[in-house]
Amino acid sequence: MNLVVDTEAMLDRLEQTALDEIVEGEARPLVARLATLLRGHSHRYYVLDAPVIADAEYDRLFRALQTLEARFPDLAAPDSPTRRVGGEALDAFSKVRHPVPLLSLANAFDGDELRAWYERARRGLAGRFGDVTPALVVEPKIDGLALALTYADGRLARGATRGNGRVGEDVTEHVKTIRAIPLRMAPPAVPASAPTTLFDTVGDATSAPARIEVRGEAYLAKSTFERLNDALVEEGGKPFANPRNAAAGSLRQLDPQVTAARGLRFFAYGVGPVEGEEPPTQYETLGWLRRLGFPTNEHIRRCENIDDVIRYCNEWEARRDELDYEIDGVVVKIDRREYQDELGAVANAPRWAIAYKFAAREATTRLLDIALNVGRTGVIKPLAILEPVGIGGVTVSKATLHNADYITGRDIRIGDRVIVKRAGDVIPQVVGPVESARTGEEQPWTMPPDCPACGEPIVRLEGDADFYCVSAVCPAQTKRLLEHYASRGAMDIVGLGEKVAVQLVEAGLVHTLDDLYRLRAEDLLGLDGFKEKKVENLLRGIATSKRRPLRALLFGLGIRFVGATVAALLVEHHDSLAALAAATPDELEAINGIGPETARGVVEWFAHAPNRATVEALRELGVNTERLPEEPVAAEPQGPLAGRTFVLTGTLPTLTREAAKAKILAAGGSVTGSVSAKTDFVVAGDSAGSKLQKAQALGVRILDEADLLALFTT
Ligand code: IVH
Repeated sequence: MNLVVDTEAMLDRLEQTALDEIVEGEARPLVARLATLLRGHSHRYYVLDAPVIADAEYDRLFRALQTLEARFPDLAAPDSPTRRVGGEALDAFSKVRHPVPLLSLANAFDGDELRAWYERARRGLAGRFGDVTPALVVEPKIDGLALALTYADGRLARGATRGNGRVGEDVTEHVKTIRAIPLRMAPPAVPASAPTTLFDTVGDATSAPARIEVRGEAYLAKSTFERLNDALVEEGGKPFANPRNAAAGSLRQLDPQVTAARGLRFFAYGVGPVEGEEPPTQYETLGWLRRLGFPTNEHIRRCENIDDVIRYCNEWEARRDELDYEIDGVVVKIDRREYQDELGAVANAPRWAIAYKFAAREATTRLLDIALNVGRTGVIKPLAILEPVGIGGVTVSKATLHNADYITGRDIRIGDRVIVKRAGDVIPQVVGPVESARTGEEQPWTMPPDCPACGEPIVRLEGDADFYCVSAVCPAQTKRLLEHYASRGAMDIVGLGEKVAVQLVEAGLVHTLDDLYRLRAEDLLGLDGFKEKKVENLLRGIATSKRRPLRALLFGLGIRFVGATVAALLVEHHDSLAALAAATPDELEAINGIGPETARGVVEWFAHAPNRATVEALRELGVNTERLPEEPVAAEPQGPLAGRTFVLTGTLPTLTREAAKAKILAAGGSVTGSVSAKTDFVVAGDSAGSKLQKAQALGVRILDEADLLALFTT
């Protein structure tokens, strides 16, 4: 079978076949074929991580199979790919006794502990095997929940949670909804072009055993977890604290249909009891499982010695954030089963394996207060003030709470015990409250109506998660703005950092940016820590900044969406602040690289009278507000459409809007968002609306896609 060719043939066939008229004799081979194709694609997607069709095509095959099975229920196999939607809801989970207990693992927290474990294992083997240095397998320790999957005659017969290791819960119907778990074992046909990894080539045992228990970890990808939490908050529900809780919560749903919708994934990492032949090493067992159709983790490696193991552990501790699933350590296993059997287990944990645990990134502590931080754009961000707590070697006493909805959605209250997470170089964040630790003393929080820095009312714009202080004279904003204005990429005023910015604003010396250029030595000498030398340096820095290029000034003004790159781009097209202040949103949007939001941000900023006053004052005080000769200027547009302005509206038959815009820009034309008397052409597609009407009213020339394409060739 060639999956790609056969799928294309099937899609063609479906296009020409009326499924609701088909007779059973014709449907039978079609059902079988569809099931095989769908299994093949699931395998490519989940096991090989190399899909060959688009999701929409998969859905078409899936729906065709569903339609046929609905018409001819007898043709629907019990392990058909359509059976992944979740069966009847349960009243309670029934208990399952594991024939061989699922053990847990001892932990190691550093390289020395790993070495000590390895030496103990070597000593344990010396009696029977002599002085051996056993090879090891290292596997990312997935932070999900363990499952034991029993297959009889190659078919999924039962799925169970780990529970306490001896007795778990029967989650067979739930497990069937996890698409990464094969309902039918055995290698689905894989086209010759499939990428081969080491796993595909190790191990001899290829046949499916009569009965086998496959063990592994069910988990939720970080991206899926975030989407799930967003959706839960949106519906007024409680989000999960982390992907592990979310995975466990999603599986322990009485209704398997809920599980089906959660998008759980699975990695196999070992086997329980096996009837039949079994490979002699862990590494080969993983390769075998993979060929039997189970996803295995792509970062699993075999190591010859413990130094390589330690290197691997350190590497993944540093790289864990690159993965789209949480790992909390590395599981290290002695590779050979003979050695494993000899070493056996103590209490609950095998002697042949150990978990190297990464430094914790979560801790719980008390939320003492919620402070509000006003940024230079006026954005107001809630900040958690925490009882200091050590996380991964760093003391954390403040953490972000994102925005007001985040706090109320998670019902985070002042006085709560909260889970705090510190991931990589990300700012620590409060994940959520520990509700079970509540005493009743905790205080719910709401956003106050006024800016904590200036007392002016704060506003929330539609569709924006954040609140803003829009006062022109808010000292908190001025401090941040001043610091930004003086920063290296902006006006580069040496000696004006965060601390001095705060001093200048708090002393009442600077209310708006232009005040900076009115500072005199005697004003500064009164400030804490300012001696003559420091005063002289700061004043020199300020004076020098008057000659900074226009793009640096523009960036320094702190206009929303205008970072250093956008500022440079704007200056290429406008030679002074005055010219920029006069630009319309359309003119700005016509610049390749400037979107409607940025255009609006610029226009609104200049429309605000206090901002215009600042610009004027800066200019009068001698600050350069014009493009300097050394600053780049945009090349005059070249091409057949140079100087022509287009507006696109409606859906074009073949070109996407981006593609049409790119073609116009490449031919020297410009594209704006709204129709005016200055518009040369409106390109209208299907369901074009008011823009088309306006064009007709103004007598602007209207083109369809074919007319547009013709322009490029003339
Ligand atoms: S092996 C005897 N391998 O970690 C060996 N466990 O305490 C027992 N886990 O809850 C487990 N990734 O579910 C093994 N590659 C991996 C694993 C892994 C995650 C979990 C496992 C168990 C815990 C071990």
